[in-house]
Amino acid sequence: MTSSSAPTVRENGTGTPLVLLHAFPLPARMWEVQLERVPGPAGDDARVIAPDQRGFGTAPLGDLPPSLDTAADDLADLLDGLGVERAVLGGLSMGGYVAMAFARRHPERLAGLVLADTKATTDTDAARANRERVAAAVLERGSVDLLIEERMAENLLAPGTDPELTDAVRKMIAEADPAAVAWAQRAMAARPDSLDELAALEVPAAVIVGELDTVTPLSEARMMAEALSDAELTVIPAVGHLSSLEAPETFNAAVRALLKRVK
Ligand code: MLT
Repeated sequence: MTSSSAPTVRENGTGTPLVLLHAFPLPARMWEVQLERVPGPAGDDARVIAPDQRGFGTAPLGDLPPSLDTAADDLADLLDGLGVERAVLGGLSMGGYVAMAFARRHPERLAGLVLADTKATTDTDAARANRERVAAAVLERGSVDLLIEERMAENLLAPGTDPELTDAVRKMIAEADPAAVAWAQRAMAARPDSLDELAALEVPAAVIVGELDTVTPLSEARMMAEALSDAELTVIPAVGHLSSLEAPETFNAAVRALLKRVK
């Protein structure tokens, strides 16, 4: 069980429950366009649910040690609270890692899977060391300023992206709590390889990736799509890591196509 209180949840529409899990270190607000449009013109194609994950947005961090399993169990508790037995689960980047942890721990509750700009492989030693450097630095400084610059430099968004979107992303990162940033970095560093779990899943899946994503590149997306038994891969041209924000129409179309395949 978890020791944090229930996270804030944004919700819209009726129909197949679709839970969208945000990237690091953004809040659930990053899913605004999906919340508005994925339910469709009559609003009854999907019940889109976008929770702030532990420590982000308005969700309390709690006092459990860093672990993506804890984040996955938070989600199971959330579904219990909403009266949802099974859901399509979608995650972008860190959200995808949590979705894979959920698939490992609660496979019977999974109706379908969207893995966007994420990967099933583990961190290299260098990536783990870098996460610990960032965790220690933000805690010591009590500020995420360094993270804003480092993340934007990683081509979160494709070169030439609308400056308004770039500004909106910077603002969302700036809102992150240093303690949550450190917690999430340490949780992500400890994640296991999930390719075997993906291979064991029988639910339909959509794998989505921005063609210019350098954080979780196309090669990783291909590996996940090949491991899954029933996956469709969508590569979004001229788009970086945050594909749902940069190309919402193409992203939403891939998600809506998956919803049609879900029983
Ligand atoms: C994210 O966007 O959630 C992060 O890039 C995930 C990561 O740091 O591996």
